Amino acid sequence: RVDLRFTVEETERSVRVPPGVTVFDAASWNGIAIDSTCGGHGTCHKCKVRVEGSTPITRHDVKTFTRDQLDDGWRLACLVNATRDLAVDVPPLTTRPKAATVGVGRQVILRPAIQKRYVELDEPTLADQRTDLDRLLAAIDDLEPVADLHVLRRLPAVLRAADFKVTAVVVDEALIDVEPGDTTGTQYAIAFDLGTTTVVATLLDVATGTPVAVASMLNRQQPFGGDVITRISATMMDPEALARLQLAASESLSTLAIQVCTEGGVDPAHVYEVAIAGNATMTALLLGIDPEPLGVAPFIMSSPQPPDVLASELGLALHPRARATLFPALGAYVGGDIVAGMLASGMDRDKRTRLFIDVGTNCEIVLSDGDRILSTAAPAGPAFEGGAIRCGMRAADGAIEVVKLAETVELGVIGDVEPRGLCGSGLVDAVAELVKVGLLDASGRYVTDDVAKELAPGLADRLTTLSSDRGEERVFVLHRPSPDAEPEDCVVLTQRDVRELQFAKAAISTGWTLLLEELGLEHRDVQQVLLAGSFGSYLSAASAVRIGLVPKLPVLRIVAAGNVAGEGAKMALLSVRERAGARALLEEVTYVELSDRPEFNDRFVDQLGF
Ligand code: FES
Repeated sequence: RVDLRFTVEETERSVRVPPGVTVFDAASWNGIAIDSTCGGHGTCHKCKVRVEGSTPITRHDVKTFTRDQLDDGWRLACLVNATRDLAVDVPPLTTRPKAATVGVGRQVILRPAIQKRYVELDEPTLADQRTDLDRLLAAIDDLEPVADLHVLRRLPAVLRAADFKVTAVVVDEALIDVEPGDTTGTQYAIAFDLGTTTVVATLLDVATGTPVAVASMLNRQQPFGGDVITRISATMMDPEALARLQLAASESLSTLAIQVCTEGGVDPAHVYEVAIAGNATMTALLLGIDPEPLGVAPFIMSSPQPPDVLASELGLALHPRARATLFPALGAYVGGDIVAGMLASGMDRDKRTRLFIDVGTNCEIVLSDGDRILSTAAPAGPAFEGGAIRCGMRAADGAIEVVKLAETVELGVIGDVEPRGLCGSGLVDAVAELVKVGLLDASGRYVTDDVAKELAPGLADRLTTLSSDRGEERVFVLHRPSPDAEPEDCVVLTQRDVRELQFAKAAISTGWTLLLEELGLEHRDVQQVLLAGSFGSYLSAASAVRIGLVPKLPVLRIVAAGNVAGEGAKMALLSVRERAGARALLEEVTYVELSDRPEFNDRFVDQLGF
């Protein structure tokens, strides 16, 4: 990485970026605004900065600056590649670009791929016989788009019906439409987090960076299985399943697209782009790509970067030429959702040593020491989502999400209703608290009744035995629906449940332990742990530390990162530079395969205890 020190109106900001990134991009990625109307394409000649030390001079610099200015270090920021550490003076803005705060405190300077330009064109005459397209392109020459057949078919009629007063709609470098009159006030896009369990859509006004409406639903692929492996298996057993899974994914996106447009009062025809962040399996299924190689060793993706397609090819009824951009993936089990999460949390633009953990059935882990970024995946199993847990359930009404044990049991229940079961954060809390009061020993076994009475007299009677078709096992009763309820009618935590959690947390902690070892780091070197995803974000930091799910650190260093995949998708829509940053991560991040490591089993066994 290279360090850039920006001075903006006497304030200094240091940023770290991959070598070769332009000064303009480095500033933009880090929310530092530099004048521009071309968005870094080298055509507006507005991005003037002064760079200390010798820097190559381009012909555009020669056209823009005097000899004295060039000698003094003035350059166009979008033409300076940062191949070494640089100090850069940024003059005050002459036009203030709009910025939006997205992700984990990321400030994104708005430079969406969607660009609209309202133009009032001269009507053709015998003296001015330029073609309709040339006339339009001359008026939007800062964008230099390419027109497709769809536009050429519409152009003559729209121009004449609108008295040559039209709005050109450009996405990336494509002129996708010409609309009558001034429609620059309607520039919308939808960011999708295509999760295995839940799909979230955010309708964005990309001109202002404002979210207009948000909606979520369970992924319609649920009937095929709760996790990616069961869905991949479905395609292996039934030749029809891939098409049905593809349809289910497409229906999930379409339903949400309609919902957010309705809620936001936005005509779907004014949505010109969507960005989709999903894991490698979700992305393959949405595109109708056979996911089988993702599910069997050696776990191979068809391509790290899915092609951009039209949203209509994914079954979305938006603007007919709306684009869909899908996030690239680092590996079969570190997918586009994690790349989006890294973008949203700025994993590649921070000097601190940071650990990113997306906790779920498949847990993705990223470690950066400010120089190198490593990623891996750990198969945690379904415990955190309520699977394989006797009273496990999803985080819905009736789920115990918080457990506090002292003299008695205090529960936090979603929806403030009678507890029905235990969701992932409640499970982690319950085990952490039982370890704290001494009812679970360091190996994860419930203690004997005598020890329980001695260590936690107010709780000891909740430790009992439950008989089921799985045999007899020790359980801790978290909630009794009535004073004389039998253990089988109560919300309990069984000895097997504790074992399930131990396996899940050992898989995860083995993952980050090996990544720390790879970079020669200790627990205490980690300056921030980001807990991401719909489960991780709700986890109690103290409980996560207590059971060893995260390194032993002060809880203030452990941060809930929220839905970073969705935030990354928003960033990709708000800034083409951020989108390029996501693609650059493919080069910057090293994927580490853990399963073939000889030390994996030893570390795993070490991590099982509390
Ligand atoms: Fe326009 Fe550099 S940003 S020339």
